[in-house]
Amino acid sequence: MKVLVIGGGGREHALCRKLKQSSKVSKLFAAPGNDGIAQIAQCAPDIKATDIDKLVNFARDNGIDLTVVGPDDPLALGIVDHFRKKKLRVYGPTGSAARLESSKGFAKDVMRRHAIPTAGHKIYDKPGPASEYLKNCDYPVVIKADGLAAGKGVTICHDVDEGEAAVKEMMIVKRFGEAGRRVLIEDFLQGEEISVHAITDGRTILSLCLAQDHKRALDGDKGENTGGMGTYSPLPQVSEEVQDQIQDEIMVRTVHAMNRDETPFSGTLFVGVMLTKLGPKVIEYNARFGDPETQTIMARMQGDLFDVLWAATEGNLDSVDVEWDPRAAVTVVLASGGYPREFEKGYKIHGLENDFGPDVTIYHAGTKRVGGEWFTNGGRVLNVTALGTDLVDARKKAYAAIEKIRFDKMFYRKDIGWRALK
Ligand SMILES: Nc1ncnc2c1ncn2[C@@H]1O[C@H](COP(=O)(O)OP(=O)(O)O)[C@@H](O)[C@H]1O
Ligand SMILES: [Mg+2]
Repeated sequence: MKVLVIGGGGREHALCRKLKQSSKVSKLFAAPGNDGIAQIAQCAPDIKATDIDKLVNFARDNGIDLTVVGPDDPLALGIVDHFRKKKLRVYGPTGSAARLESSKGFAKDVMRRHAIPTAGHKIYDKPGPASEYLKNCDYPVVIKADGLAAGKGVTICHDVDEGEAAVKEMMIVKRFGEAGRRVLIEDFLQGEEISVHAITDGRTILSLCLAQDHKRALDGDKGENTGGMGTYSPLPQVSEEVQDQIQDEIMVRTVHAMNRDETPFSGTLFVGVMLTKLGPKVIEYNARFGDPETQTIMARMQGDLFDVLWAATEGNLDSVDVEWDPRAAVTVVLASGGYPREFEKGYKIHGLENDFGPDVTIYHAGTKRVGGEWFTNGGRVLNVTALGTDLVDARKKAYAAIEKIRFDKMFYRKDIGWRALK
């Protein structure tokens, strides 16, 4: 089978590597891919993940049997609907179902109507009433742009001035364009945040192993929010009981809700969950795999990813199963100085030629190959994923591998997994 993966980051590198291991995958393509992915797949670097027409043509011209969508924006643009219209098989939710991620207001409405636990909220499409609310509410509050804002559309506000500033930025300055036309003001939830992934065909739910991301740039969860600085799995601090509660009250209810609303969801349902004193609550939905959660999850997944994704598109996910490596996995993101704000590209990367051993995988998130040499080409540059007998061991192996890699301005968190180890 010929498989096309859409996207070009560390997540897609991990998906490609796992798909490549399948005996059923005869040829692997990625669009745009990246120079790291190009070592295992044929890339189409000139096709952006949002160039839907070009992607449809590429899939048709190359006889692609299955397309797997990595990032959120093509899903929000309805890439799945476009592919299906052309009778091309594609893994991911339709544009209507992807609204769970692409409109936080839509998601809140689904959760309210189907009694899925989440933070209380108000929604505004004019700044005046939002300001009125901010004068008398309890702080902190969380202000969110309704639409996709590349992970920058959420501000935690501690007083009315911060609240007003956030609303102004979104609704008057229009920093996020159309995505900030509506804003949500949410109650602040206290607790530990985890990433819950499931693959679903709209009927059966295949739970993936739990993972936890570290979103802040600096050790001790300090600094700015980023796309994610590292992940680990399993999460020993989450009891069976809480896991069951997440399944029953969040995952099952969400898939049912989407069916009842006649926008069935198939694809990857990735829920950000806050473990509060009052039980697990949804922070947000994502309609695709997490990055860098996927790197860690794929390290622990045993079984054929192609079979699973194929079955999800067939609607017979109940026919497949996966096992989880009992070992722990840790992924550390190597970033370029300045990320998540301004950063420079083009620094030479040293050490990738090392033998990192069977338990370590280096994924490319933002690199460029010139001649035989590697250079940085993004804010998040490389992801180092290690398996170990337990978290301590996995972490030791990841950081030992990082010792062998260097580039100017390289920085990374040294405490990935700290919440499980404290
Ligand atoms: N209601 C909330 N209470 C506390 N923290 C929140 C709340 N909503 C979001 N956050 C924090 O803000 C981050 C980003 O919010 P999220 O809804 O996941 O938006 P996005 O990922 O689209 O930027 C979350 O990972 C979480 O740390
Ligand atoms: Mg999020």
